[in-house]
Amino acid sequence: MSLFAIGDLHLHFQSELKAHGQLTASVWKNHEERFLKNCRRMIGPEDTLLLAGDHSWGRNMAECEKDFEYILSLPGRKILLRGNHDMFWDAKKTAALNERFAGKLFFLQNNYAAYQDFALVGTKGFTFEGPFYLDRKRRVVGWDEEEAARAAKLVEREAERLRVSFEAAKRDGYKKLIMFLHYPPTNILEKDSAFTRMAEEYGAQQVIYAHCHGQSRFHDSILGVKNGIRYSLVSGDYLEWTPMKVI
Ligand SMILES: [Fe+2]
Ligand SMILES: [Fe+2]
Repeated sequence: MSLFAIGDLHLHFQSELKAHGQLTASVWKNHEERFLKNCRRMIGPEDTLLLAGDHSWGRNMAECEKDFEYILSLPGRKILLRGNHDMFWDAKKTAALNERFAGKLFFLQNNYAAYQDFALVGTKGFTFEGPFYLDRKRRVVGWDEEEAARAAKLVEREAERLRVSFEAAKRDGYKKLIMFLHYPPTNILEKDSAFTRMAEEYGAQQVIYAHCHGQSRFHDSILGVKNGIRYSLVSGDYLEWTPMKVI
């Protein structure tokens, strides 16, 4: 019995691919086929697969139907986290999604999922992605203050959702915790954030995040062990469509 994680499938079986820049790199060619093959090779019916957001380009549920068929066809128990591109998932409709897909998919937000004696907690998260202003040597010398203030509000709201998730797990007596975010836990300049502090406060063993695409973004946030917590990036292109074994 194992727990796997990967993010950013960016499926578009029905919707127009709005991909540009990093999402057109060769690693994305037939990625659905390669990912399915890897899952079938690695994941059994007893295993759990956590999909860390950015599931579909579809703008609504109707445009995601085939993408959901694909997700449902993946082996194992599936848990989904909300990504910034997941338009089908209104933040207030998590309970409705869990009802609709009961017994098939679990949507992780303001709740937690049990895995053996672990609680899997998580939320979309948020991080300030600029604009940053650079000098001639490409050092950051400033940033857009207005955008930074907007980001701070979104971070605060997502941190509240994450706390609801941790508290629900704690109330039910879980001591072993793994925390999932779609966005990286910190921005490129930060050493810690509301998310890393919360991971430490509740004693999460691991923090797993996605969202970062392309070589130039893979090191945007924390990787490896920091203050006793292991941080891992699981965006699909970073993992080249091989799910990461979490436990
Ligand atoms: Fe993504
Ligand atoms: Fe994303």
